[in-house]
This record gives sequence, structure tokens and C-alpha cells, in this order.
Amino acid sequence: MPISSNNTSNESPNSEISIADQFPVNQQCFYLNHAAVAPWPRCTSDAVQKFAEENCQTGAQGYLTWLKKEQQLRTKLAKLVGSQHQECVALVKNTSEALSFVAYGLDWQAGDIIVISDDEFPSNRIVWESLAQKFGVIIQQVHINTENPEVEILEAINSSTLKPKLISVSAVQYASGIKLDLAKLGKACKEHNVLFCVDAIQAVGAMEFKCDEWHIDFAMADGHKWMLGPEGLGFFFVKQQHIKKLNLYQYGWHMIKGAGDFSIKDWQPADTAQRFECGSPNMLAGYALEASTDLLLTVGLNNVADSIEDNYAYLQLQLQALGAQILSPLKRHQRAGIITFKFEGIDSGWLYQQLMNNDVVCANRGSGVRFSPHFHTTKECMEGAINVLKSLLASRQ
Ligand SMILES: Cc1ncc(COP(=O)(O)O)c(C=O)c1O
Repeated sequence: MPISSNNTSNESPNSEISIADQFPVNQQCFYLNHAAVAPWPRCTSDAVQKFAEENCQTGAQGYLTWLKKEQQLRTKLAKLVGSQHQECVALVKNTSEALSFVAYGLDWQAGDIIVISDDEFPSNRIVWESLAQKFGVIIQQVHINTENPEVEILEAINSSTLKPKLISVSAVQYASGIKLDLAKLGKACKEHNVLFCVDAIQAVGAMEFKCDEWHIDFAMADGHKWMLGPEGLGFFFVKQQHIKKLNLYQYGWHMIKGAGDFSIKDWQPADTAQRFECGSPNMLAGYALEASTDLLLTVGLNNVADSIEDNYAYLQLQLQALGAQILSPLKRHQRAGIITFKFEGIDSGWLYQQLMNNDVVCANRGSGVRFSPHFHTTKECMEGAINVLKSLLASRQ
């Protein structure tokens, strides 16, 4: 990736990378919405334009090179999720699709218990509720609070009466921004033989993630948030021992052993997670996501997480100085990139709309306004957003 060094306010730890050049979005608006849909880095936009031109000029003549790019993407995704096992990573349409692979891949008996939190994004609730309707599975919702977020989940895992078959939680809650201690939860799940499924969309790309070390059985995320890719291409991590155990319900030429050899009559599903990819890959999105993940890995996930934390801390201070009530965790180890806040006596829906009207790109979630800066977000961007907020508050007095 040809990246020059002319950093402005947001210094990259790697002197070869000009983060400022990679993110022109910071010159256009105050972008604080990575927990919804992220802007693309320059390298991603370039990769897509180059691929489009190649398609226009020579079609799929270079298909073998495309396949290599797809393999590079798999390697990078395995690194991003902290797995040594690239063969455990499938490319999927989105988080919901991968959650459905798990939900409809496992065998259920009436009375089996699934534990989720009471504030999950709908994708990580609806799919389990659909099982309740079909198979009589019981969904147990537990509360996650900022004081001790894991306590009720751990109680459920450790309970001798409940005996859940699976827990499915977001690594970082989409509204409150609470980050769970996945190492602790994974260890407890392993000890009690509970399957551990993690909706990782608000975490992967924003922090170090460790599927292998944290004993995660299934993890999934679309690429358009913290991974800085396009919508519609994500990953599905399946621990090796489960790959062949999940029932399949999508079939096609691409998911078999020896895919590409169209003469095979006596086919078998692939031994790897490729068995969850039934047909032609989304190559265009693959080129984009490969470029985005390459940038994140080049910067380093530790550095990414540190910069996000600095940005969070800055926003927290500024918002509190304006009298905001922070609805997200105040303790460093419990938070990632989501800071949600509200003001007493001010309708958050109104405030969100006014911010958007003034180029502060944010979201209206969890009864507050949600800001979500990434590692590249500049001080100027955050200052700009805070200044808009100040004038909106002043206009109401
Ligand atoms: C926690 C969580 N899960 C899933 C999604 C999106 O799911 P999908 O990738 O299926 O669109 C979101 C989007 O906001 C989310 O915050």
C-alpha cells in the first residue's frame, strides 16, 4: 500500500502511514459514527476504483489474482479475530447471516436454554427467538449493568439449575458501549460446557480480539463498522471442532471439497469454514475489506485501541464539562469506542437531529446521542463536534 508520511494532528505510531491522508472524511464533517457505518480509508476507495477499472478493461481475465486477494483477506481476518486457524474463518454477508448459521446449524431440544443480554442489537435476539417459536427453546435474558457487566451472565453460566446450552452476547453493546470481559466469560463457558457465541461487530477492528485464547466457539461481524469496510461482507469464525457439527442449509458449487472442479459428482462439504460459503464470493467487497483490514493491521490493533481510548477520554471530559450525563462506562477496561450521553431536560432525538443538521455525524441510540470515534478521528473533528453541541445548548437558553 503506497502510503506517505505527512501526519497532521493524529500521529500514526508507524511513521510510514499518513493517517490524515487516509481519512479525508475528517476534512469534510465531524464523523463520530463508526458504530453505525464507517467511512472508508483512501486505500479502500483506491482498491475499489482499481478493481472496477480492471473489470471494465479486462473483465475476469485476472481471476487467479482475485483468488489470491481473497486468501489474503482470510489471512488478515484470522489475524484480526486472533485465531491461528484461517480455515475456521468463512466470508459471509453480514452478522445476521452468521448468527443464523449457528442458530440453525445446532440441534435443539424443547427446553434447551439460550442466554442473551436484555439489550442486544435485534440481530442477536430475533434469531434466537425464532428458535423458541420453532423448537420450544427457552431464551433467558440477563441484565448487563455498568457496575459489574458480566455478573448475571456468569451466574447463568455457573447455575446448576439453568444449565444453558449456549450464550450469545455482543462483545461491546451497541447502545451503552459496555465492553464485556470475554476472557472471563469464555473461561466460564469452557468450564461448564456452554457454547460461547459472540457478536463481534462493535469490537473487531477497534481492539485486539482473541477468538482462540478466549475460547470463543462462534464469532461474527460485518465489515462496515470498526473494520472500515463496505456493508455486506463480514466474517464468521467457527472453532475447528464445530465446523463439521453445524448442520448446513445453504448449498452450492463453492462450499464443497475441491470447489471449482465442476466434474465432481460425489461431492462432500469442505472440511473448512468454506462450507458456509455456498456460491460466488463478493469479490468487489473483498478487495475493499482486504485494503481496510490491511491498514488496521499495519497501524496495529494495540495502537488503534489506544487512540480510540484517548478519543473517548477527550470526549468524555468535554461532554461532562457541558453537563452531559454519560450513559456509557466510565471505567477504561469496560469501554471501547462507543460513548452515549444525554442532557437533563433535552430530548435526545431533537439533539441528534440538530447535530446531524450541523455536520456532526452520530446516532440516536439507547435513549441518548451516541458518538463513536475511531483511531483516525482528529482532535479538530471532536472539537468541532463539541463546539456545535455548545451552540445548540446555548440556543436553548
Ligand atoms: C451489535 C450489532 N450486531 C449486529 C449489527 C448489524 O448486523 P448485520 O451485520 O447483520 O447487519 C449491528 C449494527 O448496528 C450491531 O450493532
